[in-house]
Amino acid sequence: MTGTGILPISEALKLQPGAEVRVRGWVYRRRDLGDKAFVVVRDSTGIIQSVFTPESRSHAEARRVTVESSVVVQGKLREDPRAPGGKEIQGEELVIIGLAENFPIRRDASREFLLNVRHLAVRSRKMTAVLKIRHTVFGALHEWFRENGFYEVQCPMFISAAVEGGATLFPVKYVDESTVYLTQSSQFYLEALIFSLEKVYTVAPSFRAEKSRTRRHLTEFWHAEAEVAWVGLEGILKVEEELVSHIVRRVLERNREELDLLGRNLEGLKQVEPPFPRVSYDNAIEILQSKGIQVAWGDDLGADEERALTLEFDKPFFLYGFPEKAKAFYHKNDPSRPEVTLSADLLAPEGYGEIIGGGERIDRLDELVEKIKRFGLNPKDYEWYLDLRRFGTVPHAGFGLGMDRLVMWIGGLEHIVDSVPFPRTVARTYP
Ligand code: 4AD
Ligand code: MG
Repeated sequence: MTGTGILPISEALKLQPGAEVRVRGWVYRRRDLGDKAFVVVRDSTGIIQSVFTPESRSHAEARRVTVESSVVVQGKLREDPRAPGGKEIQGEELVIIGLAENFPIRRDASREFLLNVRHLAVRSRKMTAVLKIRHTVFGALHEWFRENGFYEVQCPMFISAAVEGGATLFPVKYVDESTVYLTQSSQFYLEALIFSLEKVYTVAPSFRAEKSRTRRHLTEFWHAEAEVAWVGLEGILKVEEELVSHIVRRVLERNREELDLLGRNLEGLKQVEPPFPRVSYDNAIEILQSKGIQVAWGDDLGADEERALTLEFDKPFFLYGFPEKAKAFYHKNDPSRPEVTLSADLLAPEGYGEIIGGGERIDRLDELVEKIKRFGLNPKDYEWYLDLRRFGTVPHAGFGLGMDRLVMWIGGLEHIVDSVPFPRTVARTYP
């Protein structure tokens, strides 16, 4: 009954005044002006205002309906410059499908409160816009990889050894009571799969027991990772810049409305085209020191240092040549300068910082065993990973892209939790 002749709100708004329309959705705003009842309805495509006068047979329903109730509204479309979209429905019928209780979210709700009722807050126009951008970002990523000869693969979430260091591992008691861990990165499995597919990628959650409460750390995040046989650092940087540019282009094409709703300044995004500038770690240290920031060569760069650097750039840039100590053991050292690695991070501009980490991998067995030991780790824990260097090893490189951070930057969001529907942080696993 309520399904016949229903139009998406965005479609209804395109019709000529005088057209009879029927829409369904949720009450976004409700108010009375004299004896008129105004009901603004939203669906996944937009919002439309309807007005019910005492002559309408649903006048009483329109007056009693509450915010966030689900409804079907029918009436005649007419021009109204004051209404959102420039048109409104002269309401004839309003059917209440689910009358909402007093909706707990008010305009002045705090960030903490909104996170506690995230299952309701995902309905907001802001979250809806972010989720639509996120949808484009994930779709465009798959599109680019598939158009460029990459195979999509799936890797396990239960693992037995650390990829990114023991400090952020999440232990899980396994079926046989032994301890396993949630994956921090699918990298090692991707490295195994290049021997059959050469160019592989995966999109999956990664887990980090991050104790720090920052604007850019989740304990569960969406990780897009790729690994390519027969390429070195420069080859993988090309993949990264092409991929990121493609994604940004798609969002600009498809999500103007959402970016506008979020108040995103588009000038920076429009400049995202390859090649991205490449800045050496050495140079970055000099830049930071010249700004009076206390860093020494060899230090890893934290959020504050990255922020200071990114404010110098208006498009994403690569920071390459990190010291050995600042990066995980699997990074290949530069043969012409062994104290630095053939690694690079991609930093997003406007203060956002690292969105990708990657580089060339050690492909020689003896070199890898030696570095594992130098890092105080046990080669026994990496037996199968070492096998990859025993059976037909090839030069290869790869990277990991934090999808939530990418959405955060593209959407111009303040905090990483704003980019995920149900964020998991050190302080939050509900709802
Ligand atoms: O730099 P990371 O730790 O690199 C790796 O995990 C590599 N094994 C990836 C690879 O080469 N296959 O993580 C990669 C990216 C970071 O640049 C960041 O964008 C994101 O993953 N990331 C996080 N995002 C949200 N919350 C966290 N706690 C994150 N940790 C990493
Ligand atoms: Mg990193």
